[in-house]
Amino acid sequence: MQKQQAPGHHAARIPRHVAIVMDGNGRWAKRRFMPRIFGHKHGVDALVRTVQACADRGIEYLTVFAFSSENWRRPSDEVSGLMNLVLVAVSKYLGKLQKEGVRIHIVGDRAAVSERVRSAWQQVETATAHNRRITLSVAFNYGGRWDVVQACRRALALGLSPEELDERRLGQLMAMSHAPDPDLFIRTGGELRISNFLLWQVAYSELVFSNCLWPEFGEAELDAALQEYAGRERRYGGVPDGQSQALSA
Ligand code: FPP
Repeated sequence: MQKQQAPGHHAARIPRHVAIVMDGNGRWAKRRFMPRIFGHKHGVDALVRTVQACADRGIEYLTVFAFSSENWRRPSDEVSGLMNLVLVAVSKYLGKLQKEGVRIHIVGDRAAVSERVRSAWQQVETATAHNRRITLSVAFNYGGRWDVVQACRRALALGLSPEELDERRLGQLMAMSHAPDPDLFIRTGGELRISNFLLWQVAYSELVFSNCLWPEFGEAELDAALQEYAGRERRYGGVPDGQSQALSA
């Protein structure tokens, strides 16, 4: 879990960790009279551009919501299209991401995905394990509540006593234990929701919502979100800069 700054610090200009809900692919496709999967395909291209743009700006961690625990409820052709897109995306982009120094982690429940998708994820993680420029975590068959429950289950399986279980220990058992908590959470597509993304980890993230549909997300939209972030004051439950003395006096 993230080592938090003392209360009252302004956000560092560049966040270490950005998390994104890539929403709006379906609407983007519909406006073009195309099937929703067409939007998802362009969503993968937008994702690869964004990884590059984040790395260029010195962001160390990017985490994206690619398939939620709830997305199984979508029409079966869209679900199978998304699963197939994983395989297409891996064969199209793994070499490029590898060259750019991107380490990839997949977070989520792998038990329910097919053997082909599971082995593609394994291939991606193994191939990029030594990269250090930026860490891309792809949340796939992921839900924030699932993550809390699986971490509790692991704690029980390890035989931890109630006294041994605290925020730090539970955080270590969660799917994002390899990364600090997100500094900046972005959602595209105009909805103002967290939608069961990193529930535990966004406790102190700065939230930025954009009306841009995900396939259109590019450097300008990223920079706008970063600018908004840089203007925020992060207090972590404390008081504004310069006031803590006054209050305790
Ligand atoms: C939300 O848009 C987007 C998704 C459910 C999938 C996001 C996935 C990608 C961008 C690419 C997948 C990545 C990999 C690695 C396969 P929506 O369909 O809810 O759009 P809408 O709100 O306009 O309907």
